Amino acid sequence: MAVTLEAVQAALQSITDPNTGKDFISTKAARNIKLDGADVSLDIELGYPAKSQEEALRKAVVAAIRAIPGVGKVSVNVSSKIVAHTVQRGVKLLPGVKNIIAVASGKGGVGKSTTAVNLALALAAEGARVGILDADIYGPSQPQMLGLAGQQPESRDGNSMEPLEAYGVQVMSIGFLVDVETPMVWRGPMVAQALDQLLTETNWKELDYLVVDMPPGTGDVQLSMSQKVPVTGAVIVTTPQDIALIDARRGLKMFEKVGIPILGIVENMSIHICSSCGHAEPIFGEGGAQKLCADYGAEFLGSLPLDIQIRELADGGKPTVVGAPDSRAAEIYRSIARRVAVKVAERARDMTSKFPSIVVQND
Ligand SMILES: Nc1ncnc2c1ncn2[C@@H]1O[C@H](COP(=O)(O)OP(=O)(O)O)[C@@H](O)[C@H]1O
Ligand SMILES: [Mg+2]
Ligand SMILES: [Zn+2]
Repeated sequence: MAVTLEAVQAALQSITDPNTGKDFISTKAARNIKLDGADVSLDIELGYPAKSQEEALRKAVVAAIRAIPGVGKVSVNVSSKIVAHTVQRGVKLLPGVKNIIAVASGKGGVGKSTTAVNLALALAAEGARVGILDADIYGPSQPQMLGLAGQQPESRDGNSMEPLEAYGVQVMSIGFLVDVETPMVWRGPMVAQALDQLLTETNWKELDYLVVDMPPGTGDVQLSMSQKVPVTGAVIVTTPQDIALIDARRGLKMFEKVGIPILGIVENMSIHICSSCGHAEPIFGEGGAQKLCADYGAEFLGSLPLDIQIRELADGGKPTVVGAPDSRAAEIYRSIARRVAVKVAERARDMTSKFPSIVVQND
């Protein structure tokens, strides 16, 4: 019996990519299907980074194709290709940056920066080119969390800045440019200018993702940033506490208003595990983030426990994903990162770069 293209496609439809919940035909990941007599070869091109998953996915695809009666040699190549996806209408993409992921919270102290940095490190660990921009003018903490405190970006041309680097991630922070020890009174235009500079005058180098640690809250600064920065999607961080959830709701609405899709919600400090006896206690309440997700049709991306190791590693400049990669918390961060990347990949592609810009000349 001859092996047919239809049989190969049916085999590919019979298995589900656990990351997308879809098969490789409907995600269009299966490419270059070639039949040579009974031999089958094909590529699986994922739209999200998945270094830790590639081998398992390859094996699953090979097994499905091997099950076709009469099949000969089977060769499957799995890789990732991350492309730029659409942003708010009328906002131009940043040079050197394919996708911006805004990490936001309705209020400070909920773990936004900790989540942002671990998300960035997890995307990088899966093979993506990643940057992190610390735009939190009220309390920049990425220099400390990435072991870069006290350093300053270099400028090669006197105009633009080179990002610093930690654990393979490109880093720029408002904290590199102002003295964090001296509290500053920020006036509106100064803030806008400083943030604009950080974003556009940094020489980001071919980033698949730029994670932006947003200033907390939903005031003018946040609103104007979410209107001007070309964001592919936002991740909202909240604790299960009522007051944080009320603020998270405001955050959701703000992004909705400016046309930025919500990729999902991360619940942080959801449960406290006692380090001496191991009993679990929901210090900040329970179930609130799930309810918020249900109300807004947003995805619940995952929850992190209140865990002293998360704090110690972040404060020590080596966040969980790189400081304790085998921990349960690191696994949760990686799973959140995978979902975020998959959700980004599901967005429509950016086509603006495909069209020549039209210049109207009056002469
Ligand atoms: N899941 C967690 N468990 C324990 N401590 C945490 C957790 N998440 C964050 N922290 C700690 O809580 C403090 C506030 O977190 P941070 O990320 O700076 O919040 P935000 O950026 O929202 O102000 C930091 O000291 C951080 O290390
Ligand atoms: Mg912060
Ligand atoms: Zn106890």
